Amino acid sequence: MWDFSLCFDVMLQPIEGLGVAKVVDSMHLNFKKGDLVWGGTKWEEYSIVNDPQLLFKIQDTDVPLSYYTGILGMPGLTAYVGFYDICAPKKGEYVFVSAAAGAVGQLVGQFAKLSGCYVVGSAGTKEKVDLLKSKFGFDEAFNYKEEQDLDAALKRYFPDGIDIYFENVGGKMLEAVLSNMRLNGRISACGMISQYNLEQGDGVHNLSQIIAKDVNEAIGR
Ligand SMILES: NC(=O)c1ccc[n+]([C@@H]2O[C@H](COP(=O)([O-])OP(=O)(O)OC[C@H]3O[C@@H](n4cnc5c(N)ncnc54)[C@H](OP(=O)(O)O)[C@@H]3O)[C@@H](O)[C@H]2O)c1
Repeated sequence: MWDFSLCFDVMLQPIEGLGVAKVVDSMHLNFKKGDLVWGGTKWEEYSIVNDPQLLFKIQDTDVPLSYYTGILGMPGLTAYVGFYDICAPKKGEYVFVSAAAGAVGQLVGQFAKLSGCYVVGSAGTKEKVDLLKSKFGFDEAFNYKEEQDLDAALKRYFPDGIDIYFENVGGKMLEAVLSNMRLNGRISACGMISQYNLEQGDGVHNLSQIIAKDVNEAIGR
C-alpha cells in the first residue's frame, strides 16, 4: 500500500544545491544583514541555513556573482585542489580528464593547459567534444560512447602513456586508464559518477597496475 502523503512530502522538498545569496537576517556573529555569501543554499527564494560552515562570505564583488557557482565556488576549488595539490603537474606531462565537459572537468583541462601539459578529455556527445577543443583549449577530446574499446582509444591519444588522470567517472574508464598509466603517474580520485546509481558497482580488474606503475592515487577532498 503506497503512502501518498509521504511521497508528496518528499517531492515537495526544494532541491539541495550550492548558490549565491544575500543575508537578510543572521543570528551568527560572522554574518550580518546585507552580506553576500556562496555555499549550501537550496533552490528556493529564501533559505534558512543552520550550519554556518556551509556558507562562505563573498569578499570580491568586482566579478559577476555567478562566478561563485563555478570557478570561484565549489567546482573551482575542487578542480584547483584536485589538480594542483594532488596531481602536482609538471610542464609537458600527459593529462587525461574524464567527464571533461562537466563543471569540474572543464576547469581541470584549462588548468592543465596553463601548466603547459598536453590534455585530452572524454565526454558523451559530439557537441561537448567540439566544445572541449574549440572553447576550453583541450588538445584532443573523444566521445567515450562511440568507442568500442576504451583501452585502444587511450592508446590512440596517449601512445606514451598518461602521467595524470583526473578521475570523475570510475568503472570501465578507470580500468582502461590504469593500463595506460606511466611510471610514477598520479590519479586524483575526484568522483565516480558512473557508479553512483548502480545496485552493484563495476569491478575494476587491473588494480595491481597501481603498484606496478607506482601510481599515487589520492582521494579528492
Ligand atoms: N571530491 C569532491 O569534493 C567533488 C566535488 C565536486 C564534484 N565531485 C565529483 O566530480 C565529478 C564531476 O562533477 P561535476 O560537478 O563536474 O559534474 P557535472 O558538471 O554534473 O557533470 C557530470 C557529467 O558526468 C558525465 N556522466 C554522467 N553519467 C556518466 C556515466 N555513467 N559515465 C560517464 N560519465 C557520466 C556526464 O557527461 P557526459 O555527457 O560527458 O557523459 C555529466 O554531464 C562527479 O563524479 C562528482 O561527484 C567531487
